[in-house]
Amino acid sequence: MIRHSKIEDIDEIVAIGREVNLSIWTPADYIKEFARNGSICLTKTDDNDGVEGFLHGREGISAITGGAVFELHNIGVRADLRGKGIGSMLLVELRRECGRRGISQIILDVRVSNKTAIRFYEKHNFTTVSTEKGIYSAPEEDGYLMTCLL
Ligand SMILES: CC(C)(COP(=O)(O)OP(=O)(O)OC[C@H]1O[C@@H](n2cnc3c(N)ncnc32)[C@H](O)[C@@H]1OP(=O)(O)O)[C@@H](O)C(=O)NCCC(=O)NCCS
Repeated sequence: MIRHSKIEDIDEIVAIGREVNLSIWTPADYIKEFARNGSICLTKTDDNDGVEGFLHGREGISAITGGAVFELHNIGVRADLRGKGIGSMLLVELRRECGRRGISQIILDVRVSNKTAIRFYEKHNFTTVSTEKGIYSAPEEDGYLMTCLL
């Protein structure tokens, strides 16, 4: 099932984050993020409430439209479970949650080399808005700003 993330998920979320080489968030970062106003943190669990995947991000205001926008910070699926629809399920639930909150747009950054993720986002109707020079470090890399209207 997909549910809001809880403190008990954090160790597994951090482990998946390390495994997939996402920007490193510490357990303390997640504790703060779960409690933050405007954050959405979702976990996909297996039958034993083990974590298979997660996503999180924050609600904000679009500088362009002035409307509510959701900035997706991280999405990750356990390496041995990728390609089975878990990431898609998380994004579908995120869209529902955004709809409930009156958010009409999702934005995100992705490394230009992360072809799997780019294809995944394109499949979910995200389009590339611009290239952002050198926004990533270790290793330094450009990113694409991608967006999807809901
Ligand atoms: C990106 C990610 C979250 C996708 O989750 P997932 O559960 O594997 O994705 P799904 O099974 O829902 O796949 C949906 C689509 O994504 C694309 N995709 C997923 N895995 C892929 C792979 N290994 N190679 C190519 N495309 C792939 C395909 O278009 C796929 O559609 P299809 O099944 O019709 O071919 C997952 O691959 C992941 O955790 N990657 C590492 C972390 C990461 O890069 N996060 C994004 C940071 S911006």
